[in-house]
Amino acid sequence: MKGVLFDLDGVIADTAVYHFQAWRKLIKDHFNRELPAALEKQTKGVSRNDSLTAILAYLDIKVSDAAFQKMTDEKNKVFRELLASLTPQNILPGISDLIAQFKEHDVKLSLASASLNGPYILEKLQLNSAFDAIADPSKVVAGKPAPDIFLAAASAINVEPKECVGIEDSIAGIKAINSAGAFSVGVGNKSDLNQAKLLFPNTSYLNYQQIVQAWQNFNQ
Ligand code: G6P
Ligand code: MG
Repeated sequence: MKGVLFDLDGVIADTAVYHFQAWRKLIKDHFNRELPAALEKQTKGVSRNDSLTAILAYLDIKVSDAAFQKMTDEKNKVFRELLASLTPQNILPGISDLIAQFKEHDVKLSLASASLNGPYILEKLQLNSAFDAIADPSKVVAGKPAPDIFLAAASAINVEPKECVGIEDSIAGIKAINSAGAFSVGVGNKSDLNQAKLLFPNTSYLNYQQIVQAWQNFNQ
């Protein structure tokens, strides 16, 4: 195992909830409608545009291209406001230790987040220097569940996907890792992430030895 492809929101930091909070506010402000919690799962890991498309489809609302663009900008503004107070304290439990373990074993770290705010969030968490590469989601053709961002993240550290593990909290992300040919490590519950090759209930359970062992068994 030579590389680790990290999702960001919901894996490295507790920012996944902010995305949905921002979508909820936007939809309330524009249409006075509520979004059900179930939609959070569907939009996790999914790009900004694809998320709004899924939300509008659920609400059965059609908007012009201009209105769509305005809404995604507005959602991002709310999200950025929520990020303003982010500090290293928002790093999820177990993540700093896990990163240290990877580094100790010369495993390269690459960010495979769909978020255009990825570099900003890493900076706020003071984790920039820990990463060897950040894949740029604006440069990939298809978002998660397509494998593109994980392929780009592996390529950015010059490691073959099969020599990488990917860590994800979203259904779309686990599918993307599997399609990329990397070993998928899920953080979350079995009913959502049943396609993960290895699953931990939350980040505090993430364990370097267990990950390496499972990767080795998978690749034998
Ligand atoms: C992550 C989150 C998604 C979000 C996407 C794009 O994958 O899990 O909820 O839609 O990033 O984020 P952005 O910051 O570019 O709007
Ligand atoms: Mg995530």
